[in-house]
Amino acid sequence: MSFQPEQSVLATSLRSDPCGLLRLEDVGRTVQLGGWVHRSRDLGGLVFIDLRDRTGLVQLACGPAWSAAETLRLAAAVGVESVVLCEGEVVAREADRVNPEMATGAVEIRVTALTVVGPAVTPALPVARGRGEKMAAEELRLRHRYLDLRRPELQDNLVLRHRLLQVTRRYLSDRGYLELETPILTKPTPEGARDYLVPSRVHPGEFYALPQSPQIYKQLFMCCGFDRYFQVARCFRDEDLRADRQPEFTQIDIEASFVEREDILALAEGLLGALWTEAGHAIPAHFDRMSYADAMEFYGCDRPDLRYGLRLRDYSSIFAGLDFAVTRSALDAGARVRGMVVPGGAAWSRKQVDELEALAKSAGAGGLLRLRHADGAYDGPLAKFLTDDARAAFGLADGDLALFVAAPDRIASPALDRVRQECARRLELIDERQQCFLVVMDFPMFEQDHVTGALTAVHHPFTAPHPADMQSFPDAPARWRALAYDVVLNGTELGGGSIRISDPAMQSRMFSLLGIGDVADQERRFGFLLEGLRAGAPPHGGIAFGFDRIAMLLSGAPSLRDVIAFPKTTAARSLFEGAPVAVPIEDLEALHLAVTGPLA
Ligand code: AMO
Repeated sequence: MSFQPEQSVLATSLRSDPCGLLRLEDVGRTVQLGGWVHRSRDLGGLVFIDLRDRTGLVQLACGPAWSAAETLRLAAAVGVESVVLCEGEVVAREADRVNPEMATGAVEIRVTALTVVGPAVTPALPVARGRGEKMAAEELRLRHRYLDLRRPELQDNLVLRHRLLQVTRRYLSDRGYLELETPILTKPTPEGARDYLVPSRVHPGEFYALPQSPQIYKQLFMCCGFDRYFQVARCFRDEDLRADRQPEFTQIDIEASFVEREDILALAEGLLGALWTEAGHAIPAHFDRMSYADAMEFYGCDRPDLRYGLRLRDYSSIFAGLDFAVTRSALDAGARVRGMVVPGGAAWSRKQVDELEALAKSAGAGGLLRLRHADGAYDGPLAKFLTDDARAAFGLADGDLALFVAAPDRIASPALDRVRQECARRLELIDERQQCFLVVMDFPMFEQDHVTGALTAVHHPFTAPHPADMQSFPDAPARWRALAYDVVLNGTELGGGSIRISDPAMQSRMFSLLGIGDVADQERRFGFLLEGLRAGAPPHGGIAFGFDRIAMLLSGAPSLRDVIAFPKTTAARSLFEGAPVAVPIEDLEALHLAVTGPLA
């Protein structure tokens, strides 16, 4: 992806031009360049250097006919990744020496003078890679991030990140959204993860929390009348890391007053449209909506990848007519039998299907029941129990494999989700160019522990329940749906938000339902929000997008680490700066802390 500022913008007192923008039109000009020695070749008397800066590469040619003797000596001796300044004339390359793979490949610089201003020690890993040469291991690259970030691929990713931020700011500012900042040293904001805590030196035993999100502050902005807010907000969550999570990440955080759900979703569609357009993709102006209940029923997860089918079905009524012990006992216990038909799956070996079963088991299912239909015959443990009616009802075509889980939905859904994803991968059903945006909404308000019955918020405690559900089941909050929504792309959650509770009495009731019944406790933890709501709060709602995820998807990078300048590993360490670190006992004492566990 090219993004080059105007040539003249990058001119300084030390350089007339950036390296990567010189073209045939520049032939005859004398230029001053500065950059890093990407690679060099000494042809005995003639020295060629590829000089690199963020705009690209240009070839320097040093030769006895036009370079000073000292320049020629320095050019031959300079090490890769050293920084040089040089002056020379732009000349056209002879036709047989034009390099079509380089943007500047039609020209080279006949260098008259060269100085090495930043000599480099031998780099710990190569920046310039030969064709087919493998990249260094990621751990080594993260350890030497100052070198890794010189690679054009990572530079392109960070440049794209910059452009996406500019588009975000312009898009939201043009629509009346104010960019307002919120504190980093703050009070815990529950978003479902652990807090990073910062000890107070001046208040012994007291701690700030780093924000998991600016949630409460953005709602307070609405109480203050700012009406439309956004922030490129750094958030901190101490949770188990995966490829799509970092302990420190960036949200595009948005809140607006006097809105309903569709107002926020329309803004989300517009903003994502602007971002995808900036990265060169066209996306639909309107995203499909799907209820949480349907997402779970047909895909087994709340962020389905719709680039392929393999929809789940409820087969309970067919199994009810079969004398098959495993499914019979599950049905008698009130569970269902759900599953999917995998066209072509009958060709898989027993071992391949066993692997699918292992996946289902790792997600908690007791097993994965299989029914193969191949060459006109049925096989699998179920085959001899099939009736003609059941055969007709399953409707399997020759070559189909049907897979079932007989279990309560909370177990069957995640198991079938895993199996569905693996089948799609194996059958190569995923078209990587397709972009299936989806809004999932009507999430349940609460998750209920099936043993203790305790409620926890599915989204967060500030989300408003569906008014219709509160009316229909005033005493059964576990049945309430929330005015919450997620924006999903190809199985990845890009962002989530909700309409908020703006009535302080309702907010207080919500805390009680979540087990914070004691009013003094509510005031201690969330008094600053409750006071804000009591002072006159407009109806409001918002959304937050995971900006790193968006940058990762739009740059085609495989990991969040490729779009964050100084990321953490999956063990939450920064290998380059070397954090976290042990600190001297005196520093701990000043903070009124002592380490009790074993030291690392
Ligand atoms: P939520 O917790 O869903 O909502 O976060 C919003 C989006 O942030 C991204 N995200 C992450 N990205 C990288 N690393 C992480 N550890 C990580 N955790 C979350 C996801 C997610 O969709 N305050 C609410 C929003 C609101 O209600 O307005 C919130 O933070 O893409």
